[in-house]
Amino acid sequence: MSGWHGWFTIEHREAHSQARTGRLATPHGTVETPVFMPVGTQAAVKTLSPHELRAVGAQIILSNTYHLYLRPGSAVVAAAGGLHRFMAWEGPILTDSGGFQVFSLASLREVTADGVRFRSHLDGSEHLFTPELSMAVQRDLGADIIMCFDECLAFPAPYDAVAASVERTTRWARRCHRAWREEGRPDRQALFGIVQGGVYADLRRRSAEALVELDLPGYAVGGLSVGEPAGLTVAVLEAVVPLLPADRPRYLMGVGTPDLILEAVWRGIDMMDCVLPTRMARHGTVFTSEGRLTVRNAAFARDFRPLDPACDCYACRHFTRAYIRHLLKVNETLGMRLTTIHNLRYLHRFMERLRQAVRADRLPEFRAAFYAGEGAALG
Ligand code: GUN
Ligand code: ZN
Repeated sequence: MSGWHGWFTIEHREAHSQARTGRLATPHGTVETPVFMPVGTQAAVKTLSPHELRAVGAQIILSNTYHLYLRPGSAVVAAAGGLHRFMAWEGPILTDSGGFQVFSLASLREVTADGVRFRSHLDGSEHLFTPELSMAVQRDLGADIIMCFDECLAFPAPYDAVAASVERTTRWARRCHRAWREEGRPDRQALFGIVQGGVYADLRRRSAEALVELDLPGYAVGGLSVGEPAGLTVAVLEAVVPLLPADRPRYLMGVGTPDLILEAVWRGIDMMDCVLPTRMARHGTVFTSEGRLTVRNAAFARDFRPLDPACDCYACRHFTRAYIRHLLKVNETLGMRLTTIHNLRYLHRFMERLRQAVRADRLPEFRAAFYAGEGAALG
């Protein structure tokens, strides 16, 4: 029997929406859902130590198979005792399969029945990624949650191209499932399937039904936030979530703005990740309870208030906008570290408030207050 059975428990279903709170018990600790996962592409959430990640409230982080396979190589990580030991993060980790990154970063891609041949974005070296290789690399990295190797097309893509892509992603998911069960660690790693199908409802259904047949520990909605308008993101989500088993965690890939997080949770999503909050922070833009603020701007040169007076993070408790602006302007790395700490703290507190609203059956009130206040300006 696979050890992942019983990993996920739903605690409360919100009375007015599809939202729910739950617990995801992994070999490296329990995650309260809905959860936002900061992205640590290269075995680090850029600029932060694991200690700081804990302090901002991170429960689980995401890392990338594609990057770690190229550098330092999964053999190095395995020799270190796995990704948790290698990076000294003792909490849960999810690794993405490499599917998305091969399509967005690598060059000279050739998609064959077997997999994807590509050239590394680092040194041009040639590689072949297959579902089996993705599973083997993810087994060696040792994350708690691993993802099927999939194909993700950009928006817009013609119907026939998306149909062929769903076929391929489905066949690859079956191969991932077999490799995971026969050569993987199903007792210690939960494999999630990824629903594709672009904006086409019938293709989404075909993709979801084929994956649900595999009876996987969890399901992700992929192929969104790839250039489509936000209204379409929400419409696709609304069509896909009801096709997924209610008792399994549902993960929306690549979404991380507070408004989309709220809309996704409303529709029954339990997990999300996005580089946006950390990337924005490094460029000097922060979330605040009064909207987004670009602290690099000249307007803040003599602003001696914290980034967000309502925030309890280390940056807001000790430093001013003027100082952080100065650090960013002179390229002191502390500047990026402080904005990153703040943005992640902001989002994790947002998730905490969201979970409280779900538990109290007050999600409509939370949503109305959000759009009347911070959400009006946050975007
Ligand atoms: N990250 C964001 N979207 C996707 C997707 O569709 N597939 C994968 N593997 N990762 C993603
Ligand atoms: Zn702060």
